[in-house]
Amino acid sequence: MPASQSDRSALVIGASRGLGLGLGLAETFAARGWRVTATIRHEPAPAALQRLAARVAVEILDINDLASVAAFLHHIADQMFDVVFINAGVGGPEGKTAETVTPEEMTHLFMTNAISPVRLGEKLLRNVKPGSGILAFMTSILGSVTLSGGSYAPLYCASKAALNQLTRSFVAGMTQDITVLSMHPGWVKTDMGGAGADIDIATSVKGMVDVLEAKAGSRKHEYLDYRGKTIPW
Ligand SMILES: NC(=O)c1ccc[n+]([C@@H]2O[C@H](COP(=O)([O-])OP(=O)(O)OC[C@H]3O[C@@H](n4cnc5c(N)ncnc54)[C@H](OP(=O)(O)O)[C@@H]3O)[C@@H](O)[C@H]2O)c1
Repeated sequence: MPASQSDRSALVIGASRGLGLGLGLAETFAARGWRVTATIRHEPAPAALQRLAARVAVEILDINDLASVAAFLHHIADQMFDVVFINAGVGGPEGKTAETVTPEEMTHLFMTNAISPVRLGEKLLRNVKPGSGILAFMTSILGSVTLSGGSYAPLYCASKAALNQLTRSFVAGMTQDITVLSMHPGWVKTDMGGAGADIDIATSVKGMVDVLEAKAGSRKHEYLDYRGKTIPW
């Protein structure tokens, strides 16, 4: 018998912002009857997460801090999730290029957007349900080396291209029988996307959760936008 909606569970990494995709994902999963674990870097949890306490458990995690990662993995060691969604990311040093960025800024950007997500994903494989489970990485269409190529945010684009490539290498070596998705949320009105973006958070997260529900058990690695449209690498 297929799992009912209330049997399903999701882990959302990076759900601290009132205007953020991670919180929107946690709210949408919870509204559809899923049990949710959501991570934030610091207490207190945003009011919107506190209001969902009956369905959403909160954990503390900084994906760049190895001690924080170890403590978090210990806390959730015996939990299995239908979806693990690594959403955390940063916009990068604004207005900087390869010529002007500092080594510290570049390290922070690439650690947060490319290295730490894949390293955490590898560690969380044992928490993804075999067969039907999905490990999702929040990337961007700006990480597509086929489509990208303008001068906008070159370092951010490079960090998401690196995330995509590291994810592809990781999947190539993966032995687990699960689905992996590299997701583009659209250009969304969040703290990072800004007020002038194309779509609101509700539209983006509804689309992404629809895609996740449709892709359970596909056992492929795909690069998709929030409407389920394939993006070329
Ligand atoms: N908005 C868009 O248009 C858009 C488009 C394409 C892709 N994306 C991607 O979507 C994801 C979410 O973006 P958003 O627009 O919701 O951005 P956001 O509002 O800035 O939220 C980013 C989230 O990542 C968390 N985070 C940052 N560094 C972290 C770390 N070291 N450890 C744990 N969590 C960390 C933040 O936590 P704190 O609050 O503690 O900083 C926050 O919860 C990002 O990966 C972004 O690159 C966004």
